[in-house]
Amino acid sequence: MAVSPGNLISHVNKRVGRLVGVDKSEVSLRVACKLADKLNIKFEPICDDLLNIDDDLRFDLIISSNSILPNSREEVAEMFKKLSVLLSSNGRLIAILPSFDTMLYLQELRRRENNLDGSEPILMDEEMLAYADDGYHLQCYHTEKSIQEKIALAGLMLKATPEKAYYPQSQEEIWD
Ligand SMILES: C[S@@+](CC[C@H](N)C(=O)[O-])C[C@H]1O[C@@H](n2cnc3c(N)ncnc32)[C@H](O)[C@@H]1O
Repeated sequence: MAVSPGNLISHVNKRVGRLVGVDKSEVSLRVACKLADKLNIKFEPICDDLLNIDDDLRFDLIISSNSILPNSREEVAEMFKKLSVLLSSNGRLIAILPSFDTMLYLQELRRRENNLDGSEPILMDEEMLAYADDGYHLQCYHTEKSIQEKIALAGLMLKATPEKAYYPQSQEEIWD
């Protein structure tokens, strides 16, 4: 799910029978396909919004890395629900969900760096857990509580308590 730019392809390839990558960005998906070609890995791309994926498809494992970031909380719930529909019985979702408190910290850093006085356009909606890190487009983020709520609403069962993970510095350059 949201496979761009293909960072995980080589890691999961040897462990799965069929590797399918979904991303709504054609350009991003092209980068992932190029990488799979280069590594000689069989990879099936689907260029579409997750919400449009055929409900009849089933996956034993879905990996979503930093890709549940829509602009409304309703859509967060829809995305989790869709993922639950696409999982086979006993299927698993492994998700990295970008954390809202990181955005609070980022906002604070920006405020300090730019000497903002609070009269600037509001780029953060704390109730919606949304932040526009590009300055224009709000994206919805996650907290432990929101993850637990949405997972339950989608009919999924948490196998483990959500854990905070920090990316090592060297990984930053691979972000798109
Ligand atoms: C922040 S990037 C993360 C890229 C990569 N997974 C990673 O962890 O480095 C988000 C990706 O999710 C894709 N995406 C976001 N919402 C999506 C949706 N509803 N359906 C399909 N792809 C989506 C975007 O096109 C983009 O490639």
